[in-house]
Amino acid sequence: MSVIQWDNDLCIGHELIDTQHKRLFELTAKLYGIAVGSEDKANVKLLLLDLYKYTLFHFDEEEVLMRINNFLYYDDHRREHEKFVSTLDALALKAREDASVLDIEILNWLSSWLVTHISIKDKMLGQCLFRDAQK
Ligand code: FEO
Repeated sequence: MSVIQWDNDLCIGHELIDTQHKRLFELTAKLYGIAVGSEDKANVKLLLLDLYKYTLFHFDEEEVLMRINNFLYYDDHRREHEKFVSTLDALALKAREDASVLDIEILNWLSSWLVTHISIKDKMLGQCLFRDAQK
C-alpha cells in the first residue's frame, strides 16, 4: 500500500521538473509497497539505489536551472538538497547491511520531506521561472 500519492497541486509549472517529481513519487511509492508488503526485501537495496541516483540527477537538473536563472535562493535550496542526499546516502548504506532499516517511519519522513520541499522551495523556483518566462 502506498502512503505517498502524487497530487497535481504539487506541480510547480515547469514540465520537466514536474515530471521528475512524479518519478520521485513513483520510486518512493514502490518502496512503500516493499516495506508493507510481502515482496522480497532484497529489492529494497536496488530500489533505494535507484531513488538515490534519480534524486541526484533531479537535484542536479534543478540546480542548473537555478544557476541559469540567477535564482535568488540558490544557496539555501542547494543546502536542503545536500542534507537530503546525505540522509538518503546513509540510509542506502545501512540498507545494504540490513534491508529492514527501511521501515514506515523512515518512508513517512522521506515522503514528508519531498512534499514539503516541493510545496515550498521548488514552488519558489517555479514562480521565478514563470516570471522570467514572462519577460
Ligand atoms: Fe525538486 Fe529542490 O527538489
